[in-house]
Amino acid sequence: MKKLVAFALACVLFAAVPAFARTGVLLVAFGTSMDTARPAIDAIERDYKAANDTVLMAFTSDIIRKKLAREGKPVLSVNAAMNKLAEDGVTELRIQSLHIAPAEEYAQLERMVVKNIVKHPGRFQSVKVGYPLLVSSADLDAVVDAVLASLPKDRRPDDAVVLMGHGNDRGPGDLIMAAAANAFHAKDPHVWLATVEGANGFDNVLPRLKASGAKRVWLQPFMIVAGDHANNDLAGPEEDSWASRIKAEGMTPMPHLKGLGEIKAVRGLFLSHTENAVIDLVNTKKSDD
Ligand code: CO
Repeated sequence: MKKLVAFALACVLFAAVPAFARTGVLLVAFGTSMDTARPAIDAIERDYKAANDTVLMAFTSDIIRKKLAREGKPVLSVNAAMNKLAEDGVTELRIQSLHIAPAEEYAQLERMVVKNIVKHPGRFQSVKVGYPLLVSSADLDAVVDAVLASLPKDRRPDDAVVLMGHGNDRGPGDLIMAAAANAFHAKDPHVWLATVEGANGFDNVLPRLKASGAKRVWLQPFMIVAGDHANNDLAGPEEDSWASRIKAEGMTPMPHLKGLGEIKAVRGLFLSHTENAVIDLVNTKKSDD
């Protein structure tokens, strides 16, 4: 009798746990509504699909998602994507941030994920979040090399290069962008990095660029996609775009609008961050309680 009870209990316990753990990957970017920015996003998705059965993309920006929905090209929110993956039977979820730095946008993503987990407890057995692109000195070294290798072949040694990062004065993002700017400039003194927002603006770089004597200046985004900022703030025809300001100083702007997602080594870094993700937002250690 005891044996029977134990057997019945074992059956109940077994039934309560899904027979097979199913892994899914959720990729999360801020988002873009520009078709020209899609190659970077598509390339990342393609690499993940080559290595995983279930891959979904979510955008965090409400404005961009609304715009895409109006155009008939909907992309899910983090919350909706987590719900869909749970419905599809995913039990081991990996979420990969496609942000550049572990800064405010990334912190917001973690909050979104925790909110979903708390609302639906027990749904996922684990939810591991992979770090953004730049979390270690090794990441930064690898990214500097990858970006320098991605510059156009017709760049002459004395041509300058200006990389446009996003920047953000909320959270620690500006510190990481300053470190990246230093790392690029240390490796190649003709390369500068400045940001659209935050403390590392182009105003600091333009006079030094002029003083360097460069005649041609290559312009490349330091963002996952070559989207709105790259096409307008960096290379656009408006008077205050970086290209126009460079031109006004007598130099020739040479736009090379390629998002970081289009660089294979950058995609490889994201894949390794997913592979090595240790932050499990479902199973926190006792010491964290
Ligand atoms: Co922006």
